[in-house]
Amino acid sequence: MSKKNQKKRILSGMRPTGKMHLGNFVGALENWVELQNSSKYKNYHLIADYHVLTTDTNSDHILDNTLDMISDWLAVGIDPEKSPIFRQSQIKEHTELHLILSMLITKARLERNPTLKEQLKDLNMENVTYGHLGYPVLQAADIMLYRGEVVPVGEDQAPHVEITREIARRFNKTYGKVFPVPKTKLTNFARLPGLDRKKMSKSIGNTIMISDPKEEIQKKMMKAITDPQKIRLHDPGRPEVCLVFTYHQKFNPDEEEEIAKNCRSGDLGCVECKKRCAAAINEFLDPFREKRNYYAENKDEVLDIIRDGEKRAREVARETMDMVHDAMKIG
Ligand code: TRP
Repeated sequence: MSKKNQKKRILSGMRPTGKMHLGNFVGALENWVELQNSSKYKNYHLIADYHVLTTDTNSDHILDNTLDMISDWLAVGIDPEKSPIFRQSQIKEHTELHLILSMLITKARLERNPTLKEQLKDLNMENVTYGHLGYPVLQAADIMLYRGEVVPVGEDQAPHVEITREIARRFNKTYGKVFPVPKTKLTNFARLPGLDRKKMSKSIGNTIMISDPKEEIQKKMMKAITDPQKIRLHDPGRPEVCLVFTYHQKFNPDEEEEIAKNCRSGDLGCVECKKRCAAAINEFLDPFREKRNYYAENKDEVLDIIRDGEKRAREVARETMDMVHDAMKIG
């Protein structure tokens, strides 16, 4: 089916959580932009707006969160001409394929999904809905509908791609080969910690947002946790345990060595170091700011971009469903 010199299809997806933070950037967006600019791949960017409902049936903010999220994607360099951006909810083939795939996996297998177990524990939920149990089946439909060959995800999502692989194999064995068995591409960066060293997360309030104004970033940085043993300005510090140093490594690599040296010797105090770190992050974000502000004020345009992506994604989705119905001899 896929010709030798054809680009490989990458399917990446995210739930619409609203504005993006630097953890999202380092853990996902940065990798997506890099893959988009490689000649080997064609990217499809899915907005998992139905997946949101698995843990929260309140749908009031889904569209606003989608537009905020996509404004950030566009600002950091996702090119919607090259890589269609589209919502699961607007392409009906997702629900159609989801239904067919749901017959090809057992309830027991879905109950063993470690990501689900963790979520239930975190959310303190006792009873799981049918839809939540089927989360990975919908995700499999997301990937398989575009005959995705590569799925870039963080480690927490790897079990879902594994389930997708099982379902794809099962379909091919039952009805004939339609689907590639997709490969997981683990993103190569460890998660960027938040300002309190825990995982960066909006619900904890330890984030730096891509859309934060400069002064806000300077202010937030002053609260960041450093080496607890470095109390006075000239105490020698340990960059390897310091959160601010982790940020320097990522956003200020040119000065990394000098900062480590002067921290260890006690010549560089934390306040000065944090100021330099905030300046480096601001410089890093500068090229994104103009676009970010533009889209924040032109939400209609963002929606138009998504709708256009949906048109193009829908063509592939329809083609796949024709192949599915043919293979099943129900077309
Ligand atoms: N489950 C993914 C997450 O929480 C989002 C997602 C939905 C996804 N469908 C996908 C990711 C398809 C990759 C491919 O982050």
